[in-house]
Amino acid sequence: MDDRTIVQVTAWIKCYLTPFIFRGFRLRWAEVACRLNGQVIWVAKLANKRILLGVTGSIAAYKSAELVRRLMDVGATVQVVMTEAAQAFVTPFTLQTLSGRPVHCALMDADAEATMGHIEQARWADLIVIAPASANFTARLAQGRADDLLSAICLASAAPLAVAPAMNQQMWANAATQANVAMLVERGVTLLGPAVGEQACGDVGAGRMLEPDQIVAKCTEQFETGVLAGCRVLVTAGPTQEDIDPVRYISNRSSGKMGFSIAAAAAEAGALVTLISGPVSLDTPARVSRIDVRSAEQMLAAVQAYEAPDIVIAAAAVADYRPLQVATQKIKKQAGSAQLSLEQTPDILATIAENRGDMFVVGFAAETEHLEKNARIKLEKKSLDLIAANWVGGERGGFDSDENALTVLWQNGGVELPMAPKEKLARLLIEIVAERFDAKNSTENS
Ligand SMILES: Cc1cc2nc3c(=O)[nH]c(=O)nc-3n(C[C@H](O)[C@H](O)[C@H](O)COP(=O)(O)O)c2cc1C
Repeated sequence: MDDRTIVQVTAWIKCYLTPFIFRGFRLRWAEVACRLNGQVIWVAKLANKRILLGVTGSIAAYKSAELVRRLMDVGATVQVVMTEAAQAFVTPFTLQTLSGRPVHCALMDADAEATMGHIEQARWADLIVIAPASANFTARLAQGRADDLLSAICLASAAPLAVAPAMNQQMWANAATQANVAMLVERGVTLLGPAVGEQACGDVGAGRMLEPDQIVAKCTEQFETGVLAGCRVLVTAGPTQEDIDPVRYISNRSSGKMGFSIAAAAAEAGALVTLISGPVSLDTPARVSRIDVRSAEQMLAAVQAYEAPDIVIAAAAVADYRPLQVATQKIKKQAGSAQLSLEQTPDILATIAENRGDMFVVGFAAETEHLEKNARIKLEKKSLDLIAANWVGGERGGFDSDENALTVLWQNGGVELPMAPKEKLARLLIEIVAERFDAKNSTENS
């Protein structure tokens, strides 16, 4: 099977068969793609990846519409940037409609700069692909020019750059073009093609752009496979706030940092991540969809509204109790002490675990004593697949700090993750979650 067929078959499987067949066997479609052909062609490497597609003034620009579709089929987010000449061959409107994102064309565009400026676009991209790359644009790249939006982005970006030349065979063979391309390759730019064959002008020779499916296959080679590629992961984070009256509430000291770091690490590992967060003052990690809630009740509703995640990581510090009644007016200060009657909030983790279906459920335990013993009890009682326990309060406290240590437990095992910054800890935890998730799936499938 050649690269093109593999990508087509994989896209077909993803669209039509995955929901019915492979979820049943608990296989991620990335794995299916690999097993199908016996070659290492993990198209899911592009899941959740941000591809900036540069389209330049070549007759092959009409194929960029197909390329946008094929990249999106394998889970990539595509931002199109066009040169002025490219717009004579294909309209920005077409590419905007297909990519679902506004196409950027001009460097001196006040509106675009105010929203997603050229430097921001340069930083946004995981990979820049220029397809088609005209002879003229190749020359501009080689010279390091920045006199239009696309060349300025290329110059300002640290992302890997791949170019798919498309031009008349004589233009390709020209010593100037060859010198430009050689210079780019020497600087680490990946050359995609060109192919040899019949050309739009009637010539035959080298200079045809690779077909969109071939470009997608080459783009996948630019990425390592994330351990959670293609998985749908739901993370809860932060505290909840349970209202007493219109101005007061019960809450806790959770900052949400651990949950946010976990969401970021899962996205980094290729998962499609949704983060349901209580009130925190943290920025949403890149590539993560965020839903904000306040109370335990709202968090439960948001969790239940999310359909069929593969993995749920419940890192939120949900309040266990809430006022039995919420006063409609501010409660006035009175002489003597005051009483507040409390009731239990819904147990989100238990509800998830009860209705789990195939999903892999990870809980958190924050303990002030008997850490491992209490965490093991919670693991068993709530039928979790894995639990991450940490100390709270006192010097070892994990709340509202940038560092933490975790005791990670599962049914017949466990591991200690010593004190480390939460970002690092989150990456280690995600590695363990992926390993246990795969182990569970392979046991259930064998
Ligand atoms: C009909 C037509 C087709 C063209 N096809 C190509 C082509 O396939 N490859 C190429 O390098 N230039 C081609 N050109 C020339 C480029 O459009 C021209 O060099 C332009 O300045 C490129 O601008 P850009 O690199 O900023 O996109 C073509 C020009 C015309 C009029």
